[in-house]
Amino acid sequence: MTRENRIHCPALQNRVMSAEEAAALIPSGANVGMSGFTGSGYPKALPAALARRIETANANGGKFRIGVWTGASTAPELDGALAKVDGIEMRLPYQSDPICRERINAGQMEYIDIHLSHVAQFVWFGFLGKLDVAVVEVAGILPDGRLIPATSVGNNKTWLEQADKIILEVNSWQSTGLEGMHDIYYGTQLPPHRRPIPLVDAGQRIGEPYLRCDPDKIIAVVETHAPDRNSAFSPPDENSRRIAGHILDFLQHEVKKGRLPAELLPLQSGVGNIANAVLAGLNEGPFENLTAYTEVLQDGMLEMLKSGKLAVASATALSLSNEALTEFNADIDRFRERIILRPQEISNHPEVIRRLGVISMNGMIEADIYGNVNSTHLMGSKIMNGIGGSGDFARNAYLSIFMTPSQAKGGALSCIVPMVSHVDHTEHDVQILVTERGLADLRGLSPRQRAKAVIENCAHPDFQPALRDYYRRALDQSPGKHTPHLLQEVFDWHLRALRGERM
Ligand code: COA
Repeated sequence: MTRENRIHCPALQNRVMSAEEAAALIPSGANVGMSGFTGSGYPKALPAALARRIETANANGGKFRIGVWTGASTAPELDGALAKVDGIEMRLPYQSDPICRERINAGQMEYIDIHLSHVAQFVWFGFLGKLDVAVVEVAGILPDGRLIPATSVGNNKTWLEQADKIILEVNSWQSTGLEGMHDIYYGTQLPPHRRPIPLVDAGQRIGEPYLRCDPDKIIAVVETHAPDRNSAFSPPDENSRRIAGHILDFLQHEVKKGRLPAELLPLQSGVGNIANAVLAGLNEGPFENLTAYTEVLQDGMLEMLKSGKLAVASATALSLSNEALTEFNADIDRFRERIILRPQEISNHPEVIRRLGVISMNGMIEADIYGNVNSTHLMGSKIMNGIGGSGDFARNAYLSIFMTPSQAKGGALSCIVPMVSHVDHTEHDVQILVTERGLADLRGLSPRQRAKAVIENCAHPDFQPALRDYYRRALDQSPGKHTPHLLQEVFDWHLRALRGERM
């Protein structure tokens, strides 16, 4: 293990301690703001030490639990470790950890699924209560105490400003080349004093490369040398390739119609394999000089930066496989000129997304025939991950695209249903639905026109007859003909699935 001193602020040298000693400074019941966003830049040592402490305390009859606030999902060493020892009272926002998910769905852990752009301002507004401790991973500390952010920014600016006490993890595994890649904007105010965010271009810098931090609030500094933990993407399968193909055709059509410029508009691409496959498609496609204003920068975008298809990418976090991260680190001086990492309240800011005219592309669990989208809950009640930034982007995008294979669970489930079992994105925020079968452009269509487009273009042929039958009978029997529904049977599809039958 190679360690180098990254703590250049003399005043902080005497606050260096072990993760165990630092964990002992966090009391039960504390709300803890942790860094971390999709497996990047999360604290690597303290959460595990805290989990051990919680396990011991609870084994002796204690009830030690904390509130865990993050940027988004983290990694097994943070979410997994704390959930395993039943140490999380309340978790927010986005998570994707299997143990967390199990606890939440078992009713043993509270979870608030909240738009990622809302988190920082909710804390500033006082809507979430007091933030007691910030635990933030950084790549280094400057002599004057400013911090070099790591591979994600997330909510770190807010955690450092709002928490009473701060614990820093200085991770010497993070590349020193990250210095200068970040753009931390300190101009956000609270209503009624808010001013426009002066960002008019995806590649623009409006802030500073460092996080400010009050040294008097720092109660501990823990040194680590440990890697981020991002999972690998699977190579695009046939369905993903088809979905990517439909989106590419559609974008070309929009350029031809004069509704998009030749270099498109800034791209936002969500999490997961399908989103990554769309980026792979764009990398081979006809568009040049693209830009991205997105939340996470995944392998597909790095490839596009390498090939030159993508001129610049703005995000709040890296979400790279190990292989891609190695390439990123090897060429970080070049990437630093074309990648900008911002706080998530800026990367996901509705004002900026609307102004730039972002093309938003996100995965979903299911959509209904009228275009409502469920991104988060299986069978209406079981959380999968969370809404993440999909709502921030979809509501404010120039084009809001949602995609999924038309079927799930080997064809047992239709991802196009009469009515979604949980709503994350209403019909008003969803413009384009895409499955491997085709694309439904819902812009300018009434609900009845939308139903036809969704059933005929997106549903799997095995489920189309039942969907047509439902819609025809709804049209006939529904008391209102604007958005026809048969309320007495609208969830029969999900009820069959819950009984283990085919939808
Ligand atoms: N009904 C029930 N289960 C379904 C389903 C449906 N209609 N569609 C998919 N599933 C299941 C899959 O079978 C899979 O289950 P498994 O883990 O047991 O195999 C699981 O849901 C995930 O499906 P998968 O196809 O692997 O999803 P994905 O990786 O493409 O992710 C989302 C899809 C919706 C879960 C993901 O995009 C997400 O979390 N989105 C919300 C956040 C977001 O959009 N963030 C980006 C904003 S920047």
